[in-house]
Amino acid sequence: AALVARRASARARWRRAVALLRDFEEGCATPPARLRQVVDAMVVEMHAGLASDGGSKLKMLLTFVDALPTGNEEGIYYAIDLGGTVFRVLRVEVGAGSVVTCRKVELPIPEELTKGTIEELFSFVAIALKDFVEKDGKDEQRVLGFTFSFPVRQTSVSSGSLIRWTKGFSIENAVGKDVAQCLNEALARSGLNIRVTALVNDTVGTLALGHYHDEDTVAAVIIGAGTNACYIERTDAIIKCQGLLTNSGGMVVNMEWGNFWSSHLPRTPYDISLDDETQNRNDQGFEKMISGIYLGEIARLVLHRMALESDVFGDTADNLSTPFTLSTPLLAAIREDDSPDLSEVRRILQEHLKIPDIPLKTRRLVVKVCDIVTRRAARLAAAGIVGILKKLGRDGSGVASSGRTRGQPRRTVVAIEGGMYQGYPVFREYLDEALVEIMGEEVAQTVALRVTQDGSGVGAALLAAVHSSNRQQGSI
Ligand code: GLC
Repeated sequence: AALVARRASARARWRRAVALLRDFEEGCATPPARLRQVVDAMVVEMHAGLASDGGSKLKMLLTFVDALPTGNEEGIYYAIDLGGTVFRVLRVEVGAGSVVTCRKVELPIPEELTKGTIEELFSFVAIALKDFVEKDGKDEQRVLGFTFSFPVRQTSVSSGSLIRWTKGFSIENAVGKDVAQCLNEALARSGLNIRVTALVNDTVGTLALGHYHDEDTVAAVIIGAGTNACYIERTDAIIKCQGLLTNSGGMVVNMEWGNFWSSHLPRTPYDISLDDETQNRNDQGFEKMISGIYLGEIARLVLHRMALESDVFGDTADNLSTPFTLSTPLLAAIREDDSPDLSEVRRILQEHLKIPDIPLKTRRLVVKVCDIVTRRAARLAAAGIVGILKKLGRDGSGVASSGRTRGQPRRTVVAIEGGMYQGYPVFREYLDEALVEIMGEEVAQTVALRVTQDGSGVGAALLAAVHSSNRQQGSI
């Protein structure tokens, strides 16, 4: 009788785990109709953010980039790329329509520098740049593009103040300060004769490089540690800065879409728990459903609850209770097509999460949880991209947001970068599939997502070229 009772209760606990999985799956559902609602909400918020500062959670920040590189740039330019998990310094040579990264160093950012003072962080940056530049010997004229991948209220193409930190950085004394000036001061302290010529977001650098290679590039998206997009907007549509004239009639707008929010987003109790664990609660809601820092943690929260409410992982609830122990690279490695018995999944669970050998059906459950998280993220990113295309009248829905009816959509290129899209094939497949579901096959064929390499940094160097004192003609 005891055995029968034990079996019955084991079955009940398994049913509980499966029920939690089903609830999670339903909560994360993104059928095409819902994705279209997200697209429309994105367009509405884009309009609101362009109408006034604070008009929307979508900040729609001006970049003062009214000219993009054309291929006529020449010379040697430096770039610093700060804002992800690694920090890069680059030396870029441009000429004859081609761009070559002659040299690059990558350094991990010491964790303590992301929580200290801005002087400490920028001294680290300045010293790294100094070591790098001095290898080049003679003191030629030097121009620097500074990619700073956080929300910045720009006052010119080479200056702007930090609005707030994202992605786990929290250096209190930097908020509200002009980050280009802070870096210039650090560079001066280090004795290096170079100043910031272009201060750009990583999306803007990516757009610049994308546009350099292909003039049909109208937008850029980053899906890495964080997520964001920028695109080329007509100046007259930027209502909040009417009267601000540019040479070309267009300007790149940094959407800061990580902070997009809509009631149509499929939010689960796990997303709320994740938000509570972060330093920027109530902010970056879209980013927390899509980008690399957060996806593994969402899956961990689901698995932890399963461990607490059923015994499918044995006695391991404690091992699953530490936030951020399931990194997104691990999440990406927990996959169905590993091998028929999911041996790699078994290894990851044992080595990294201290979950002892669990039966195949439970390993499948874990794979399913990870897949749900990844799929939702990729599909929401796709909806964001279509939102931009719709705002530009390039999503094939016929009527541009300006009210004008357009004919067949033109070829449109979106530059894209970041580990989630580049290093995670399943994510890419889900994203591409959702683009087709939302726009239809025919229109989706006119849209190319083009991966750039180091665009965030190389693009900043190109923008420094375009906007340096011997200003070369750019186009938008
Ligand atoms: C975060 C930042 C944003 C950046 C993105 C991708 O969302 O706020 O500026 O572009 O991460 O790195």
